Amino acid sequence: MAIERTLIIVKPDGVQRALVGQVIARFESRGLRIAGLKLMRISRELAEDHYAEHKGKPFYEGTVRYMTSAPVVVMVLEGPDAIAAARATMGATNPLNAQPGTLRADFGLNISRNIVHGSDKPETAEREINLYFKPDELLSYERAGDAWLTE
Ligand code: CMP
Repeated sequence: MAIERTLIIVKPDGVQRALVGQVIARFESRGLRIAGLKLMRISRELAEDHYAEHKGKPFYEGTVRYMTSAPVVVMVLEGPDAIAAARATMGATNPLNAQPGTLRADFGLNISRNIVHGSDKPETAEREINLYFKPDELLSYERAGDAWLTE
């Protein structure tokens, strides 16, 4: 079980619908630890960089426009198998296919407004974390009681 970091974004719809606290609570109560957290407005340049692999797809322009339309909350979560754990907590990209109990099923219906983004694999996580955070904005620390996570 590897200790990983993953980048999570509470998208503009999550912030506008006042779901930030509930989203963070789901990840935190699962056991993932917050290593970095901030509210920000994504620039067009940053969104284009983030979604570069989707350039040319029908949803690319709409996604970039939407992600830059209002503030988001970005965070780095850390813990054992954090990437897969966070993805399971988020559910399938299309909320219609997400299992009940996941964030996207419980809070969404529309693939373009799917509440959260999470890195999909270790290389992507490293790239995305570097896009949104400077090294000195991330903290490694122990929480009382974290030992059970890796026992
Ligand atoms: P995200 O995990 O942020 O990565 C790409 C985003 O594009 C995705 O979540 C969706 O919000 C958005 N998107 C919109 N339409 C589609 C689609 N048809 N397939 C995949 N992603 C889509």
